[in-house]
Amino acid sequence: MSTRKVALVTGGSRGIGAAVADRFAREGWDLTISARGQEALDARAELLREHGGRVLSVAADSTDEGAVAALIARHVEEYGRTDALVVNAGMGLKGGFADFPARRFDRLYQVNVRAPFQLMQGLLPSLRTAVDVAGAAKIVAISSITGVYPEPEMAAYGATKAALISMCETFNLEESVNGVAATSIAPGYVDTDMSEWTKGEGAIPGDEMISADDVATVAFAVTQLSRWAVLPQAVLTRPGPNLHRA
Ligand SMILES: NC(=O)c1ccc[n+]([C@@H]2O[C@H](COP(=O)([O-])OP(=O)(O)OC[C@H]3O[C@@H](n4cnc5c(N)ncnc54)[C@H](OP(=O)(O)O)[C@@H]3O)[C@@H](O)[C@H]2O)c1
Repeated sequence: MSTRKVALVTGGSRGIGAAVADRFAREGWDLTISARGQEALDARAELLREHGGRVLSVAADSTDEGAVAALIARHVEEYGRTDALVVNAGMGLKGGFADFPARRFDRLYQVNVRAPFQLMQGLLPSLRTAVDVAGAAKIVAISSITGVYPEPEMAAYGATKAALISMCETFNLEESVNGVAATSIAPGYVDTDMSEWTKGEGAIPGDEMISADDVATVAFAVTQLSRWAVLPQAVLTRPGPNLHRA
């Protein structure tokens, strides 16, 4: 079993996941990162290894139950413990309620809710192992402010993110007493590829959005809490009148 702390970060090849993985690596943790694209993952893993830890990069599409199961198995085989699971891989789709296609809703649900459920359930034994070794283990789920404060054209996306928050709450009711606790982080717009559509002229400049490093700071802080402190939910907003908006 790894003698260092270990985190698994989904969507770790870019954006928020890459910033989170970078923070853990700098703090001396071993890592597994996953996403769909193997090439981008391997390039990211190479950079992370410069901080001196072990980094496993495993391609897995969140819509593929078998691939997610293989990711879990490979991670557990490599490290034998999980001190932090960061369920971050997600997708966003925008569209009016009147004509949003149900099959798009299904895909959002698979990526943003079903895969996190599978990961939280599948990694629970190795999270419990980390509790035995280190006293506590944490799950950090990257939700969205639209899961807390609904916005027009975000019915499907917001519903998946609200489901993720709810899942973490129920997880805590059952598991936090044993030392594994979950925190959902619900950010407004974060400066990544995903928010590209809303940047630029007349919109929100990227440098006025929450940074991926801001989210990483909160995610890492959660892992510093003892088993006796549970932070169920953290909303991270932009300044000014945007307080309850993305
Ligand atoms: N950016 C925002 O404004 C914002 C705000 C609130 C919440 N969030 C949430 O934050 C999380 C990360 O978003 P981000 O902004 O960092 O997005 P991003 O820059 O687009 O990165 C998404 C990451 O997830 C991976 N990914 C995407 N679809 C996947 C799939 N089906 N299976 C496995 N991996 C997949 C991507 O790699 P591949 O493409 O190679 O798979 C990439 O590593 C998401 O859950 C998002 O909903 C974002």
